[in-house]
Amino acid sequence: MANNIFTTKSMDRLMKESSGEHDGEHTLHRTLGKTNLIMLGIGAIIGAGIFVLTGAAASQHAGPAVVISFVVAGIACAFAGLCYSEFASMIPIAGSAYTYAYATLGEFIAWIIGWDLILEYLFGASTVAVGWSGYVVSFLKDFGIVIPTYLSSAPISYDAASHTYAATGAFLNLPAMGIVGIMTWLLVIGIRESANFNNIIVFVKVTVILLFILLGWKYINADNWTPFIPENTGTFGEFGWSGVVRAAGIIFFAYIGFDAVSTAAQEAKNPQKDMPWGILGSLVICTIIYILVGLVMTGIVPYIQLNDPAPIAVAINATGEGLAWLRPFIKIGAIAGLSSVILVMLMGQPRIFYSMSKDGLLPASFSKVHPKYKTPHITTIITGGVAMIVAGLFPIGLLGELVSIGTLLAFVIVCGGVLVLRYKQPGLKRPFKTPLFPLTPILGILSSLSLMYFLPIDTWIRLIVWMGLGIAIYFGYSRHHSKVSNP
Ligand code: ALA
Repeated sequence: MANNIFTTKSMDRLMKESSGEHDGEHTLHRTLGKTNLIMLGIGAIIGAGIFVLTGAAASQHAGPAVVISFVVAGIACAFAGLCYSEFASMIPIAGSAYTYAYATLGEFIAWIIGWDLILEYLFGASTVAVGWSGYVVSFLKDFGIVIPTYLSSAPISYDAASHTYAATGAFLNLPAMGIVGIMTWLLVIGIRESANFNNIIVFVKVTVILLFILLGWKYINADNWTPFIPENTGTFGEFGWSGVVRAAGIIFFAYIGFDAVSTAAQEAKNPQKDMPWGILGSLVICTIIYILVGLVMTGIVPYIQLNDPAPIAVAINATGEGLAWLRPFIKIGAIAGLSSVILVMLMGQPRIFYSMSKDGLLPASFSKVHPKYKTPHITTIITGGVAMIVAGLFPIGLLGELVSIGTLLAFVIVCGGVLVLRYKQPGLKRPFKTPLFPLTPILGILSSLSLMYFLPIDTWIRLIVWMGLGIAIYFGYSRHHSKVSNP
């Protein structure tokens, strides 16, 4: 019979699960070291945010002060990153925030966050796939290969002003679906292979960005930075400090992904020590890169000109012949960058399903591991299949905001979990401790809630509908099958 929905999983039980006791076809392989974990984080972080969204944030909301927006969003993520690290070093098993919530806030909240993370990872992969499709179409066009719009864009559009959906006349976004399919296949054949592939891609995208920073630096005209914070136009969010905050809400998307490292905890060789490195290391590296890109971009061209889905290319064009040779490489870097984000997101999701299934909240077949490849192939294929459909059907703006609100909700719950567990079980061994307790988790909750506050009401409604569906599944199925509350 179903039991208390606030049952928590004991630390003993979690530790036993994480010790990698052999469980036949239900065990993942520990193959990832510190560097691989940092690379995994960077792989998930640098993507559509910096390559696509920065232009709109600078040209419409913050001007050169988009650099401050990067700092603001980075600080909010740092609070959450520290809390994630405390949990990840303490509870090193697959499943990320879902597992942490199970240990602290009980089964129901764990289910809520597990369901919520689908928005971050599965929908996140779809969002970035749509951005990828845009870059590939434009890259191919440079070589005279034209993919018609009706085969490379969403058949559904959404008008936020009138709150209405409309048919665009397009068939499906086929390139977006294709890249999700390829990444899913890679993930089925092995985590080691996927990590190696990720390392190569990360190398390419970071090199391209560093070239832009180093070579672009010479072309900076400091006049473009004055005024650094353009005066507010009279409308909230259009320049001035309110614009800086609004831009922070948009480019928050650029930071999403550092937490994906925590989903691979069960495949880390030495999770207690290496998880905080993976999470915080990748976050720090990307924050520095973003600040520098923001400075160079707004230093080369007046911010008004950056309203373009490929703002780095706009900046390069402005250097005239000087950096023209870099143009195709930027596109290649962006395409590579977006590919690795898709890969890591699609890798995170099945591992959360894996943990939920092991606990009985999802059917047992979800935690089957492939006998040869040792990957959770069933959930990988389900995730990839759904992500493909979503990527084929919906526009990037709608998806991106949903991903941001879902991720921020997860941050709130994780920071809350750190607070609760410190008070409930102060004596537990914590290989990594969040500094300045309780300030850090409290600021983590407040900063995430403020960024959520600035997202549109439609996005809130979608979040509520999605969570309602999840709650129905919990009470209809999961609660009755839970292994923890029905031992
Ligand atoms: N941070 C990731 C990106 O910008 C999700 O694509």
